[in-house]
Amino acid sequence: MELKLSFLLILLLLSFIFSSSLSPPPSTPHISPTKSPSPLSSPAKPLPPVTKSPSTSPSLPTPSKSPQTQSTLDPKQLTALQSLGIPTLKDPCTQPSFHNATICDSSKPFRHLVSLRLINCSNDIEISNTALKSLYTLQDLQFLNCPIPPVHLPSELIANLRTFTCIKSLKKLTGVWLGRLHNLTDLTVSNVPVNASGPLIILGNLKKLRSVTISNTNLTGHLPKKWISNITYIDLSGNKIKGRVPSSLTLLENLEYLNLSSNSLLGEIPDTFGDLLSLQNVSFASNSMSGPVPDSLSEIPGLVHLDLSSNQFNGTIPKLISKMKSLKYLNLANNNFHGVMPFNGSFIKRLTVFKVGGNDNLCYNHSTISSKLKLGIAPCDKYGLPVSPPPEKDSDDADGPSSDDSDDDTSDDSTHKAESGHGGPNKVVLGVAIGLSSIVFLIVFLVLLSRWCK
Ligand SMILES: *[C@@H]1O[C@H](CO)[C@@H](O)[C@H](O)[C@H]1NC(C)=O
Ligand SMILES: *[C@@H]1O[C@H](CO)[C@@H](O)[C@H](O)[C@H]1NC(C)=O
Ligand SMILES: *[C@@H]1O[C@H](CO)[C@@H](O)[C@H](O)[C@H]1NC(C)=O
Ligand SMILES: *[C@@H]1O[C@H](CO)[C@@H](O)[C@H](O)[C@H]1NC(C)=O
Ligand SMILES: *[C@@H]1O[C@H](CO)[C@@H](O)[C@H](O)[C@H]1NC(C)=O
Ligand SMILES: *[C@@H]1O[C@H](CO)[C@@H](O)[C@H](O)[C@H]1NC(C)=O
Ligand SMILES: *[C@@H]1O[C@H](CO)[C@@H](O)[C@H](O)[C@H]1NC(C)=O
Ligand SMILES: *[C@@H]1O[C@H](CO)[C@@H](O)[C@H](O)[C@H]1NC(C)=O
Ligand SMILES: *[C@@H]1O[C@H](CO)[C@@H](O)[C@H](O)[C@H]1NC(C)=O
Ligand SMILES: *[C@@H]1O[C@H](CO)[C@@H](O)[C@H](O)[C@H]1NC(C)=O
Ligand SMILES: *[C@@H]1O[C@H](CO)[C@@H](O)[C@H](O)[C@H]1NC(C)=O
Repeated sequence: MELKLSFLLILLLLSFIFSSSLSPPPSTPHISPTKSPSPLSSPAKPLPPVTKSPSTSPSLPTPSKSPQTQSTLDPKQLTALQSLGIPTLKDPCTQPSFHNATICDSSKPFRHLVSLRLINCSNDIEISNTALKSLYTLQDLQFLNCPIPPVHLPSELIANLRTFTCIKSLKKLTGVWLGRLHNLTDLTVSNVPVNASGPLIILGNLKKLRSVTISNTNLTGHLPKKWISNITYIDLSGNKIKGRVPSSLTLLENLEYLNLSSNSLLGEIPDTFGDLLSLQNVSFASNSMSGPVPDSLSEIPGLVHLDLSSNQFNGTIPKLISKMKSLKYLNLANNNFHGVMPFNGSFIKRLTVFKVGGNDNLCYNHSTISSKLKLGIAPCDKYGLPVSPPPEKDSDDADGPSSDDSDDDTSDDSTHKAESGHGGPNKVVLGVAIGLSSIVFLIVFLVLLSRWCK
């Protein structure tokens, strides 16, 4: 009996050693799911039944006309989608669709596309007139990163189109082409060259626009004198627009966003700029504008973001800017402002971004502002002139309120995060766990065995 038990014990010990020498490999879990998940097999649903549409329509009679797939979508539009390389194995009307590329209405017996997004399409894709004609129901058309040749949009499609987006796509557009899209409320064109006599040929024709972005398109010409009265969003940044900012712009009482940065604009900010009572974000950065900042600007109640950097604005900075309650971002860097900067430390600390560097004749009152703020400008002497040329290294990029205490806080936070996020000790923990569990397993086994032996 005793002999038998000790023999068993040795056996068990051997098997333990054997198993523990094998245990390291599992520390790198090899959970490999299906290696190349076909884009068609969405993880959530396995080819949903045709009738299960999220919108109102109850069970529809199954369209039997399309042999390839069972879809609630108009067969002509289904064919058009296939010609555009959009997978239709899964019903394109089921949400979420493949890359959110398609959205349908709920008409019967067939549904129709209202939104189509082409992303990263290959250069050799051909958008035929037949395809575009059958897509006349679209209200929203987006080309993202689709460097195909420009297409001709049929007038039925243009009549329905409300939003059009073209980013790094269609190789080249013209003002005339965009000016045909009369019914648009939202236009976004960026990083594609637009050949036009100016923004007017576009903005003057799209009378229902609420939001327009034409950025990084090398668009030339002048800003229009007449604007669409209801417009809320204007981004014409990164073009070659020249001339002055017309004062008629300040009549846009609904305008919330104005970005005219990186153009070739000249002249002054209109005196009536403060009439833009809905304005929240504005940038005239990187132009050749000059003159003073109008006092009226500080009367805009909800202004959050003001960027006048890299121009030749001059005069003193209006003191009233320090009373602007909503302001979070203020960039006045690289201009010709002079005199005593009218802000104190508590105002600066309230902002998330504050830059005034690169104004050689601007200085700060050292009895109200600590030199620790590193503003990139010199302190003032008793006459309100800079005591010395501003410190060279800071003048370029004074990163606003970097007060000492807040610096400490953030660095503490980041070290905490770094520690907790570290994956180092995990392997050791795993090894110990495996070792412990094998011991427990062994003991249980031993107890069971000894009972069995008796
Ligand atoms: C599709 O849109 C939904 C909701 O807008 C979003 O949650 C989802 O991430 C999107 N899917 C893809 C692949 O873009
Ligand atoms: C498109 O391509 C970009 C980069 O080339 C990639 O980041 C993005 O995920 C792609 N989007 C789709 C929907 O394929
Ligand atoms: C704009 O839409 C209206 C009604 O939706 C339509 O009657 C009109 O023809 C459209 N305009 C153009 C230029 O297609
Ligand atoms: C604009 O013109 C510059 C050169 O003048 C060129 O490098 C850039 O690619 C153009 N941008 C677009 C969107 O065509
Ligand atoms: C832009 O259009 C004008 C006239 O429509 C034409 O003369 C010019 O060559 C075009 N420029 C480019 C770069 O295509
Ligand atoms: C301007 O917007 C208002 C409401 O947002 C709308 O009722 C009105 O018809 C619009 N006017 C024009 C000319 O589009
Ligand atoms: C204006 O557009 C540029 C890029 O075109 C962007 O970097 C900048 O943040 C924008 N300014 C505002 C106020 O949104
Ligand atoms: C500011 O610039 C304008 C235009 O460049 C110039 O006429 C004016 O004299 C300048 N004012 C000051 C105070 O430098
Ligand atoms: C407006 O500016 C604020 C502050 O800089 C920023 O957080 C916000 O995203 C901007 N809004 C738009 C539409 O760019
Ligand atoms: C800083 O300036 C603001 C606005 O001018 C003022 O309300 C506040 O009292 C000033 N704070 C200090 C500490 O001087
Ligand atoms: C700096 O601030 C102090 C205290 O507010 C004031 O007495 C002094 O005149 C200011 N100096 C300049 C140059 O404005």
